[in-house]
Amino acid sequence: MRNIMAPKVPSVKLSNGREMPIVGLGTYARQAEPSQFRQAVEWGIEAGYRHIDTASFYGNEVQVGEGINNKIKEGLVTRDELFVTTKVWNDCHAEAAVVESLKESLARFKLDYVDLYLIHWPCSVNEKGEDAAIDYLETWKGMEQTVNLGLAKSIGVANFNEEQLDRLLKHCTIKPVANQFEVNPTLTQHKLVDHCKKLSVVPVAYTPLGLISEARPEFIGIDVIKTDEKFGELAKKYGKTRAQLALRYLIQRGIPAIPKSFTKSRIEENLNIFDFELTEEEMKLVDSFNIDHRCVPATALKNLTYYPF
Ligand SMILES: NC(=O)c1ccc[n+]([C@@H]2O[C@H](COP(=O)([O-])OP(=O)(O)OC[C@H]3O[C@@H](n4cnc5c(N)ncnc54)[C@H](OP(=O)(O)O)[C@@H]3O)[C@@H](O)[C@H]2O)c1
Repeated sequence: MRNIMAPKVPSVKLSNGREMPIVGLGTYARQAEPSQFRQAVEWGIEAGYRHIDTASFYGNEVQVGEGINNKIKEGLVTRDELFVTTKVWNDCHAEAAVVESLKESLARFKLDYVDLYLIHWPCSVNEKGEDAAIDYLETWKGMEQTVNLGLAKSIGVANFNEEQLDRLLKHCTIKPVANQFEVNPTLTQHKLVDHCKKLSVVPVAYTPLGLISEARPEFIGIDVIKTDEKFGELAKKYGKTRAQLALRYLIQRGIPAIPKSFTKSRIEENLNIFDFELTEEEMKLVDSFNIDHRCVPATALKNLTYYPF
């Protein structure tokens, strides 16, 4: 049965003509029961999400695939209505390993293709976790093969900086359609966002709720979004929550966002952002919370060749 109450989520156009729903469901959790991943995906699809973000690194592709396939079997959605993203991990950056890694992801999902395949980080490691220093241009050749083999409809990158993106665009045959990186009201990333747009690469915001992230208590402390009075007042003006304000700010900048939640009410809440519009002044106010603070500095990758930050 189709849920006629679920909001229709607008899409953004990718440079290859395909469309990506502007809000997707994030699925990363360091600690979760396996069943929570499947349940979140099912709640998400019921609530109207048509875009699901995961990665081989998250260890949840089996459960994410179960959730997707359950909803397809129920007749709530068809495969072509969904936009599924996964990512190649840093230990599979050799050209041939990329294709193999996606085949393994697809086997775990029990799906024939993904809509978007991303290089998770520009840096690489060997099986011992040491710097493999594989040039991401080599990795990209493997990414291009996934498209030629019909395993991925589109390919892109994550956590690439401006120079890395420029260099990739100069040498690629198939263009990356997206760059996924951290953007939220305390890390507004105007320079990188504008650069991506200039190159027709869609910027996708991960950790879009930034410092309100409950799952990352070690980063809470300069918790502006969660506590600031003006931010709270602005959300209240529209009868919205702080999380909805943060997400609305991103989509008004034309940035697709992939908030993660495993709580049914929050999964629904995070999609309920299409019935209000911030003024130019209010967008500037949200911008003013920028403190260039990264929730995901990936310090464990800091000594690797091609570390982006
Ligand atoms: N490419 C990359 O390198 C990369 C890096 C990081 C993340 N990502 C992707 O981006 C997704 C989102 O990022 P994230 O998970 O780091 O952070 P996030 O989506 O900004 O925040 C998630 C946290 O916020 C809580 N939350 C969700 N909705 C809420 C609401 N309406 N009100 C209050 N709290 C709420 C969630 O709790 P509950 O679950 O308990 O509701 C969870 O603890 C990830 O899941 C992953 O798919 C990609």
